[in-house]
Amino acid sequence: MPTPIDTLRAEFVAALGAAGTESDLKALRDQYLGRKGGAIAGLMKAVAGAPADERPALGRLANELKQEIEAAIDAKRDALASSRPPAGAVDVTLPGRPAILGRLHPLTQLRTRIEAIFARQGYEIIDGPETEDDWHNFEALNMPPEHPARDMQDTLYLAKPWARGGASAPQATARDERPASLLRTHTSAMQIRYMESHEPPVRIIAPGRVYRRDNLDLTHTPMFQQVEGLVVGEGVTMGDLKGTLIGFLRELFTPETPVVFRPSFFPYTEPSADVFIGCQQCKGSGCAMCKRTGFIEILGCGMVHPAVFEAVGYDTAKITGFAFGVGIERLALLMHGVEDIRLFYENDLRFLEQFPL
Ligand code: DAH
Repeated sequence: MPTPIDTLRAEFVAALGAAGTESDLKALRDQYLGRKGGAIAGLMKAVAGAPADERPALGRLANELKQEIEAAIDAKRDALASSRPPAGAVDVTLPGRPAILGRLHPLTQLRTRIEAIFARQGYEIIDGPETEDDWHNFEALNMPPEHPARDMQDTLYLAKPWARGGASAPQATARDERPASLLRTHTSAMQIRYMESHEPPVRIIAPGRVYRRDNLDLTHTPMFQQVEGLVVGEGVTMGDLKGTLIGFLRELFTPETPVVFRPSFFPYTEPSADVFIGCQQCKGSGCAMCKRTGFIEILGCGMVHPAVFEAVGYDTAKITGFAFGVGIERLALLMHGVEDIRLFYENDLRFLEQFPL
């Protein structure tokens, strides 16, 4: 028959097996080793009340059990502590965090769409420098020095190194007398670059960043993006220009979008036109966005001026051409009903996430 000491030992062993945490162990320690009300304390009291001849042997057994219990609890506490991962360790049992997938910026999405529309029609997509010289940005586009049309765009000029001042400014040489370089104010400069290095026929679009001395506001940023188009060949007409742009705009917006051409002026085209589309917000009935006109100006275009062909050495007797330039931000504002152009450049995810692919 098991003695009360054996029974207590068996109970403790079972309870220790079930203890899985440090707080379980603390409760176990209180339950067995607590000075008042602990099981061992109770056992000691019973030993004290036993007959005198049994007391030494019982006392020894009770003490052994007490030491066993203390040692077992300590051992288990150490085992728990060493199985815990060290502070800062990676817990490989946690479920993984889903990776956030990026997406293309809304302006990049729009530029890609525009490129696809023209690429499908056989246009070449070309790229060029954002730092330009006076010749490509102005002069070859029929804007000689002092031409008032240069003021249509406020140009950012790049300082010559010695113009920044300092005692070691070198003497100007003949080479330094060349016109300053500038940040291109329009992608039209790419018309010149391309024609200078290619013979007609030409069918290109040139998307890219352009720069102007504008302060940030609802509709202006000092850097924005344009897509330039240029088609040159024998017998290219204003009808080709209209058909191309009407087709382009109706594919970009909707097949029913009204498109209107109005006479305008650009030094590098003659005749020139501004192109308007029916307001996407009010569908033509008049709203704040279209200033109650029902139409919004969307791009500039025209038949390439003979002076431009002469500047690049093309034979004006043989060929004609058309050109256009469209602002990507402006298209995006209209298309998405966004009222502040700055939103496209602030990189606020709450805005950008509204443009899934
Ligand atoms: N360069 C003009 C601008 O930045 C846009 C433009 C108008 C481009 C007429 C053209 C054109 O090619 O023919 O406002």
